[in-house]
Amino acid sequence: MKRVLSGVQPTSEIHLGNYIGAIKRFVELQNEMDCFFCVVDMHSITIPQDPKNLYENSLKLAALYMAVGIDPSKATIFLQSQVPAHAELAWYLQCNTYIGELNRMTQFKDKSQGKEVVTTGLYTYPVLMAADILLYDTHYVPVGEDQKQHLELCRDIAIRFNKKFGETFIIPEPLIAKFGARIMSLDDPTKKMSKSNENKYSKINLLDSPSKIKKSIMKAVTDSESEIRYDVKNKPGVSNLMTIYSVLTKTSLEDIEKRYEGQGYGTFKKDLVEIVISSLEPIQKKYKEIIESGEVEKVLKEGAEKAKEVSHKILTDVKKKMGFVIF
Ligand code: TYM
Repeated sequence: MKRVLSGVQPTSEIHLGNYIGAIKRFVELQNEMDCFFCVVDMHSITIPQDPKNLYENSLKLAALYMAVGIDPSKATIFLQSQVPAHAELAWYLQCNTYIGELNRMTQFKDKSQGKEVVTTGLYTYPVLMAADILLYDTHYVPVGEDQKQHLELCRDIAIRFNKKFGETFIIPEPLIAKFGARIMSLDDPTKKMSKSNENKYSKINLLDSPSKIKKSIMKAVTDSESEIRYDVKNKPGVSNLMTIYSVLTKTSLEDIEKRYEGQGYGTFKKDLVEIVISSLEPIQKKYKEIIESGEVEKVLKEGAEKAKEVSHKILTDVKKKMGFVIF
């Protein structure tokens, strides 16, 4: 069976972009493949984290994974920091990655821009991500479009390692959806929806209240026309809202255009508010139940055991190939 691995950082709340671009697709994949879904807590400390928030957000994200429908009896859910092999492999891979390659990473450029201090962890972040993936003999990595460059680097590192030390890693393929892989910010549809945007109305978080969802959508930037038409270049705001509508209701763009012909943005937005609220409601309900049941820690413990078992095999192979003494 083919294997899938992906991860999400437990930094602040998880938004609709994370859901549509990644997590929603995890749920679909768990029935077809052997899936590992990681809470990448070690990635999140590449920028300063309040320890209490990190702790809570890590458990919250694991609960959200389950609330959206990832079933721990089908897929392995675990915390990255509970499997030391990730940090260990990241070091071996760092010694086979070039500074020039990391210098080209656009996400590092964006995240470090204008910062007074930048950690080396933020710089080597993509190598830890490569370790996450390569440790599990991963075939497919479902991610949003913003992770494409990191995936390419991961493949380059794996190919180079295999050439130098002999066949070791499977070369993973990114699974980037043709549609919805880049959900845009509601306050500026030329930028991606992002956890770090300080304007709370720029995004919809999965645990947002109906009134916050309503306000965010009603305030969403559109354009001076009134036609509901998918045209990313000229109508990025409306096109982004149509994408969300389409993914959540499985309605084609043409059908949405037809449905709202001759109607203004107001009606369309009001309907979208209802769609988003009713799509998130069952997730929020399930989330509350999971948190109250206290089952998250048990799932994470079992997940870590399974992840350790699988990753140990690959890590040992890497170490042998590189010449480390293993007793
Ligand atoms: P992170 O935590 O920033 O985002 C989690 C996932 O959400 C996707 N995403 C989006 N998709 C569509 N529209 C958006 N606006 C949007 N914003 C975010 C991301 O592409 C991602 O799939 N480096 C990764 C985490 C990671 C990882 C891994 C992923 C660490 N190790 C191994 C896959 C495999 C990240 O920062 O994701």
